[in-house]
Amino acid sequence: MLPDASDDPPDGPPEDPPKGPPTLSAPPRIGIFDSGIGGLSVLRSVLRHLPQAHCHYIADARFTPWGDRPAAWVAARCGQLSAHLLAQHCDVVLVACNTATTQAIAALRRRWPGQPFVGIEPGIKPAAGATRNGRVAVLATPGTMRSPRLAHLVHAHARQVSVLRLPCPGLAEAIERAHADPAALARQLDAIAHTLRAADVDTVVLGCTHYPLVADALGQRLGPAVRVIDTADAVARRVASVLSM
Ligand code: DGL
Repeated sequence: MLPDASDDPPDGPPEDPPKGPPTLSAPPRIGIFDSGIGGLSVLRSVLRHLPQAHCHYIADARFTPWGDRPAAWVAARCGQLSAHLLAQHCDVVLVACNTATTQAIAALRRRWPGQPFVGIEPGIKPAAGATRNGRVAVLATPGTMRSPRLAHLVHAHARQVSVLRLPCPGLAEAIERAHADPAALARQLDAIAHTLRAADVDTVVLGCTHYPLVADALGQRLGPAVRVIDTADAVARRVASVLSM
């Protein structure tokens, strides 16, 4: 059964992790998790690249969103979900969440050495290569935005360009609730598009896996001259290469 979590970070693993190096199953089993439906934007790419794979997807609906939670809470919850997926004999665990990747993947790799974990990070590098006017924006949760990992990505790959870091608190939640309140989502997208137009950026990085689910709606507001970058395909290729090793 999927482990539960209280609002306090849980202590220790809820299920026995598998021991020793992973043995690949055929067809490969991929465990994927996110705070909610956002990781489906990554699952879509995974299924394009690996149509034969068996994918186990966890949407942590009870605790969504994760973007405002303390890093230690996110890390503890990711440990629980990973333990559950590893107990289902997944060959690789895909952390289909930028917030969780920046805050938890290092701890997951320490806890299960030898077990492949693939994460997703904002596409700062491709954005810096794609911009023509030298003005890029990254949209992400508050948690991703304050992570040292994002600062590192900008420093390493985008020192020559101007990077507007636009935290979008509430956007992932509005996407989760789009069926119930489409107007609230539309208002948030209008406000974000207004800020991006005022900043005159020509490249926008979707730094949360929920945001590709509204990429078309955002793209319509920004117009065809603005390029929107999503790294799901690169992540899917990485999963395929890990499975072929
Ligand atoms: N989809 C997640 C991300 O990529 C988390 C969004 C949230 O739960 O706040 O960051």
